[in-house]
Amino acid sequence: KMNLKGRNFLTLKDYTPAEIDYLLNLAADLKEKKKRGITGNSLKGKNIALIFEKPSTRTRCAFTVGAQDEGGIPTYLAGDEIQLGHKESIEDTARVLGRMFDGIEFRGFEQEYADILAESSGVPVWNGLTDTYHPTQCLAMLMTMREEFGYLKGLKVAYLGDGRNNVATSLLIGSVKMGVSVTICGPKQLWPSKELVEECQEYAKESGAVIEVTSDLDGVKGADVLYTDVWISMGEEKKEQERERISKPYQVNKELMERTGKSTTIFSHCLPAVKGKEVTEEVFESEASKVFEEAENRLHTIKAIMVATLGDMEEA
Ligand code: CP
Ligand code: NVA
Repeated sequence: KMNLKGRNFLTLKDYTPAEIDYLLNLAADLKEKKKRGITGNSLKGKNIALIFEKPSTRTRCAFTVGAQDEGGIPTYLAGDEIQLGHKESIEDTARVLGRMFDGIEFRGFEQEYADILAESSGVPVWNGLTDTYHPTQCLAMLMTMREEFGYLKGLKVAYLGDGRNNVATSLLIGSVKMGVSVTICGPKQLWPSKELVEECQEYAKESGAVIEVTSDLDGVKGADVLYTDVWISMGEEKKEQERERISKPYQVNKELMERTGKSTTIFSHCLPAVKGKEVTEEVFESEASKVFEEAENRLHTIKAIMVATLGDMEEA
């Protein structure tokens, strides 16, 4: 049996394929129980801090409901209403929160803040999105793909657009670890870094996944999943005009869905989406779109992370 108790969840780089598989199975189990009206007690009496420097609907609600379903007590802390990185160092805030809370979720700008919180608080820290990574999103995507196709290894996902952002980065790491081939298809300026691709090539050697980075839309050929994200991420508002210009050719539309050559291709997106920009309304609303399935799976996967790293599993 897998034991992840006390672990942080900062990036999927820190998790083995077997551990990711375990989290996906736990999430499926928790989902099935919840559908039958059964919740748990594994987080009973655990106080959970939810720090948000950036806005959130899905992540905030998933951590809140996920904690409550298992008997935990979430407390929302808006980044600008606590002394986070102003008046006091992150390290000091971490040491205070670690004495009051049993687990900490962090959403913000700097990945380093999440890392320092983890190092200095002494309690599990979960990354709810930083400028660099969005690892809980990738788990929800993998869960949704597994529900849809029944397996992961051997599937191909094509990610369109900003291949450097948090969602693309975590999608690449997590998918490749699980044997899902990834094609990043977007403007050259927004390709993932060479270092990241090289690191992921090492995971690919183990899993058999194939990584491709291209600006050619034929990169979607054979894809089982077309995935995209906003052209302008939180904090990048100044780059709007330039981003729109270079991202436009990578919009997910009906034509691009057909270009995969597969009738079974699904579409997904982390949400929130800007319809008419990175995806057309038509694809977003189509049968192939699994965006709300993935949004729901944020709850089950995030709950699984908390239960696995903080919960009393005998109670689960
Ligand atoms: N996908 C996602 O993280 O959504 P929120 O920003 O609403 O949490
Ligand atoms: N890349 C997006 C994801 C939002 C969930 C952002 O960082 O704004």
